[in-house]
Amino acid sequence: MKIGIGCDHGAYDYKEIIKEMLTKEGHEVEDFGTYSHDSCDYPDFAYACAKSVSEGSNERGIVICGTGIGVSITANKVKGIRCALCSESVSAKLTREHNDSNMLAMGQRVIGVEVMKDIVHTWINTPFSKEARHQKRIDKITAMEEKENESR
Ligand code: RB5
Repeated sequence: MKIGIGCDHGAYDYKEIIKEMLTKEGHEVEDFGTYSHDSCDYPDFAYACAKSVSEGSNERGIVICGTGIGVSITANKVKGIRCALCSESVSAKLTREHNDSNMLAMGQRVIGVEVMKDIVHTWINTPFSKEARHQKRIDKITAMEEKENESR
């Protein structure tokens, strides 16, 4: 799978670990930075990653910051993005089945690395349920997004 990944300085270590894990498992990972521990602004990296998913060059995106909150807020501003902030794998499974989330956000300061790996594996490997009730709700979100864009 083609997967974009992005982080800020507060999540650089875990981003490197997750990138290496996914690459070893055969995924094609595009790294949108950041590339060091130097202080930076999380919206820059989350936005670049989200745009790649929105425009189709990556099928999914993973964004990580201190809490996961800043990158998830940013990613969800981009058209077509459904970014789920997860701290455990039950939510990761359900957000794929119910929301067909195309981006995953997590926080390096709030979960351990093994939990993060587990969340990523669950999220990557769980398909959307394709149940009509879930698709209908996703379609409502999309319609709301389009209405918001029209009113700008
Ligand atoms: C950076 O200090 C921190 O604010 C960021 O990593 C993230 O937690 C924001 O939501």
